[in-house]
Amino acid sequence: MDVKKLSLTAIKAMKYAYAPYSGYCVGAALLGESGRVYTGCNIENASYTPTVCAERTAVFKAVSEGERAFMMLAVVGGKDGEVTGAFPPCGVCRQVLAEFCAPDMPIILVKDADGNGETHTLSELLPLAFKLD
Ligand code: THU
Repeated sequence: MDVKKLSLTAIKAMKYAYAPYSGYCVGAALLGESGRVYTGCNIENASYTPTVCAERTAVFKAVSEGERAFMMLAVVGGKDGEVTGAFPPCGVCRQVLAEFCAPDMPIILVKDADGNGETHTLSELLPLAFKLD
C-alpha cells in the first residue's frame, strides 16, 4: 500500500462523513501492520460532544478488530467535502494515535482531491506525547 493509494482511500472514506452541524467532512485511512486498511469518517451528533473524528473512528475500528500496530495514516477533510488544503488531526486524535502508533509513524495530510499531500511523523504533530510508561 503506497502513500497515494492510502490517500485516495481516505478521500473515499470522507464521502461517508456525517457532518450536518459543522459541514466539515473528514476521512481517514489507517494502514495496519497486517496490511489491512481501516477507514474512518467523522460522525457528528445533535448533542455535539458525542461527535467522533474520522481518525478515532479508524483507530477504534482497527483496535476493536484486533489490530494494534500501524504503519501509516492518511487524513483528509474540508468544508462540504471540498479539499482545499491539509486538514491536520485534532489534539485528542493525536493523543489516541500516540497510544498505538510509533513516534516515527508517517501521517499524510492530503491536500487535494487527487490525493497529493504532505507527510509528517506523529512526533512532529505531537511532541512530548503523554504516556504512562
Ligand atoms: N474532525 C475530524 O474528523 N478530525 C479532526 O482531527 C478534527 C475535526 C471533525 C469533527 C467535526 O465533525 C468536524 O471535523 C468539525 O470540527
